[in-house]
Amino acid sequence: MNLLHIDSSALGTRSVSRELSAAIVAAFADRHPDLHVISRDLAAAPLGDWSPGHTEDAVLEEFLAADVVVIGAPMYNFGIPSQLKAWIDRICVAGRTFRYDAGGPVGLAGGKRVVIASARGGRYAEGAAAAFDFQEPYLRKVFGFLGITDVEVIRAEGLALDEDHRAQALAAARDAVTALRLRAA
Ligand SMILES: Cc1cc2nc3c(=O)[nH]c(=O)nc-3n(C[C@H](O)[C@H](O)[C@H](O)COP(=O)(O)O)c2cc1C
Repeated sequence: MNLLHIDSSALGTRSVSRELSAAIVAAFADRHPDLHVISRDLAAAPLGDWSPGHTEDAVLEEFLAADVVVIGAPMYNFGIPSQLKAWIDRICVAGRTFRYDAGGPVGLAGGKRVVIASARGGRYAEGAAAAFDFQEPYLRKVFGFLGITDVEVIRAEGLALDEDHRAQALAAARDAVTALRLRAA
């Protein structure tokens, strides 16, 4: 089984999304001794220049070969980090991961499981603030567009509100990883 592990936080060892994405990968590794993990740290090694339409791209091939994709995705200014957006620009390739037919777009990358470790300073899960969330809905839409229906989000939010909220959010997210561990069959 191939797992692609993507991180995009600029915060290094203090990053919540990195802690959670690593725990998610460990959960899969526990269940799958044969797991083959490829890690791509988009903050440590930003993707370089490329031209759209370039057919041989290691970034795209890694994505296509993955059975499971685990993504550490902080919220930056209501969306995702620019380095993560640059990765998405590399994996959305007409003719490889989607195509258009008369009925509209058709995703070609189905059958994968995507697990997103989401971290954000504020709270967006409910109420009026939900309209400001261009991070999780965006990621769900992009993977849906590529034909991937199995998308799960493990979320720690309200991290910047105060110490209590932060502790509660971290505990809930760690519990969600444990639940994932139990069903990571
Ligand atoms: C450049 C930048 C922009 C951010 N923008 C937002 C934002 O729009 N909304 C929010 O709730 N938190 C925002 N935050 C806070 C982060 O989402 C929060 O610190 C989260 O823990 C980052 O994930 P990480 O811990 O994995 O780095 C921002 C942080 C940075 C560094």
